[in-house]
Amino acid sequence: MRESGVAFFSSLTLHSLAMAFVVGINFAVALRLIGFAPRLEISALSRFYVIHWYAAAAIFISGAALLLAYPAKALTNPLFYVKLCAVVIGLLISKRIQNTFSNKPEVSIDSVSIKLAYLSIALWLITLTAGRFLAYTHSILLASRFY
Ligand code: HEM
Repeated sequence: MRESGVAFFSSLTLHSLAMAFVVGINFAVALRLIGFAPRLEISALSRFYVIHWYAAAAIFISGAALLLAYPAKALTNPLFYVKLCAVVIGLLISKRIQNTFSNKPEVSIDSVSIKLAYLSIALWLITLTAGRFLAYTHSILLASRFY
């Protein structure tokens, strides 16, 4: 993974493309829940969750590949754990919102969903920022010749 530029950069490219879908779809749903585009049916937006979960799988696969390239670099960086916690909580909120609104046009937006929407936006901003700064905040690059 480290020696082959193609392997590393195709993983980084897949990581970036997949996060565009994951973060993009969660932002669109959250913005609708907090009141943007009120004429847009929230249940209609829920149809994008199918793409969302495929992209989430792709982001874990590409993330694991990037981790394999420089395991010590990420695993010794506290920012990596902040990012992973934000990702997991963010995806749990996605699942909760999907279960609440998917194929249920009759369900109205309650205050809990609005609070979850604001939390979701904050978590994905944390994830993106932490992900980007991983490259600059590491204390070691390699722990040995191999990893
Ligand atoms: C939706 C979830 C995620 C988002 C939004 C995200 C975001 C990012 C961003 C913005 C970068 C910087 C890319 C660049 O340098 O151009 C990055 C790099 C990285 N991500 Fe993620 N990521 C996510 C999930 C994951 C997961 C689940 C893992 C691990 C299993 C992971 C591991 C990594 C690693 C190892 C890097 C490379 C850091 C470096 O440059 O050393 N990411 N991520």
